[in-house]
Amino acid sequence: MREALTVPAPEAPALIPRPHRLEGRPAVNPVFTALTVTSSECSARAAALLQCWAGARPGLAIVPAASQWSARVVFLDLAPTLGGPEAYDLEITPEGVSIRAATPEGHLHAVQTLLALASGDEGAHWPAITIQDAPHFSWRGLLLDSCRHFISKPAILRLIDQMAALKMNRLHWHLTDDQGWRLEIKRYPRLTEIGGWRLRDGVREGGFYTQEDVREIVAHAAARGVEIMPEIELPGHATAAIAAYPELGCRREPLSVGTAWGIYANNYNAGDDRVFQFLEGVMGEVIELFPFGYVHLGADECLKDEWKRSADCQRRIAEEKLGDEHGLQTYFINRVASFLRGHGRIAVGWDEVLEGRISGDMIVECWRDEAIIKLALDRGYRVIASPRRYCYFDIAVSQLDLADVHAFDPSGGLPPAPNGAAVIGGEATLWTEYITEQEMDHMLFPRLLAMAEALWCGPQGKDPFPLFVRRARQVLARLQAAGIKPGPMLKSDGPAESMKGRTDLHVTPEGLDKLGLGE
Ligand code: ACM
Repeated sequence: MREALTVPAPEAPALIPRPHRLEGRPAVNPVFTALTVTSSECSARAAALLQCWAGARPGLAIVPAASQWSARVVFLDLAPTLGGPEAYDLEITPEGVSIRAATPEGHLHAVQTLLALASGDEGAHWPAITIQDAPHFSWRGLLLDSCRHFISKPAILRLIDQMAALKMNRLHWHLTDDQGWRLEIKRYPRLTEIGGWRLRDGVREGGFYTQEDVREIVAHAAARGVEIMPEIELPGHATAAIAAYPELGCRREPLSVGTAWGIYANNYNAGDDRVFQFLEGVMGEVIELFPFGYVHLGADECLKDEWKRSADCQRRIAEEKLGDEHGLQTYFINRVASFLRGHGRIAVGWDEVLEGRISGDMIVECWRDEAIIKLALDRGYRVIASPRRYCYFDIAVSQLDLADVHAFDPSGGLPPAPNGAAVIGGEATLWTEYITEQEMDHMLFPRLLAMAEALWCGPQGKDPFPLFVRRARQVLARLQAAGIKPGPMLKSDGPAESMKGRTDLHVTPEGLDKLGLGE
């Protein structure tokens, strides 16, 4: 269990996620009107973030050198790490602020805590407080689906700010699907010229991100300690790509970008080497744009009907002795993962990858059922846990509320496996079939607060739910004052029909049969 918090100064704002250790001195409440910031290369990003905040804050100036009117914010680099690579210590006294961390990430977390602790309208009102903090899970993610509904660049930059404030550090960006291809690829311009748009009820809708947009978004995220993992879906969910280049499909026939939700049967032709040349061309540009070490390949919900009928695919199955279409799926995934590995990237796939023997360094993202987490660990994989019944924020609050998310334990009580396999963290997902950009806040908040707490604090470090809710209400009030429009908190907060989102909490059992986990 985490240590109990000592009561901080009365006006100290509530913090989410809850810091590991916090001590306050209620009598002292420093107010600073000018700050001198002393930083190093390791803390440069954190210092820039603090200076940016201070620059926009009334009654607070950043001054170049300490004077008798300024307090000091001192960033100190420490080696070895305090309590893990993202750990930080923060101490606020009437003389100033001292931050100790060994990594840029630790320094950034400390600044986020400092900003969350600020109160008052002018200057920096901070409680005299000492914090020692470190995350439980290293992967604290949020998936954003930009395909079903296009999400604008300003909305993504704002989302990254919200994530960073909650110390969430992985944006999983779903960029290609049946209903839209959203990433400009210079070698293949039709992907966005054709694949980025669809006609729905006579209205042309869609959009895409230029490579310049992506560089701006990646830089914005990096400045806040958020890494972006792109998802380029294969071998299914490929309708938009095939609409742009019909020769990539098994039928080589023109088709339209998807307009309905659900799963399409249009797969890449796994029997044609030109498809792999295309994907390597795409991945080459993806790797240039996204410096993070992980690329998600999707690999979920790949229907096999087209492959059964395709002479090319059947020839590949025979020549490579793959057995059947499931073997072909594994061949496909391993071939692209191997290309990525050759370029210094690790592939991540949804848990359908476990239907075959994928390469051992891949990370498995488990979404369907918690039993799959154990299966993936038993087979030696690292796991990102995103089970629907805790993590799918496209589901209405009437089915999945703050209490459900707060109860989420990514490791499901399983001990670390002896073979190095481990649950490295979890992800909330924001699929956008039934959600537009205007409804993102409603679906994300307040549930993202509970996700941030579950991932940062871990199962043993969380407060009991009623205590968490007390903090969540305070944080939510601050977020609302900053313009965020949250949805309901609990199932009991309104009639089910007033709650946005889908209501089908469970996945169809057929998918699980292939893993021996069906009913
Ligand atoms: C998924 O929800 N199909 C990963």
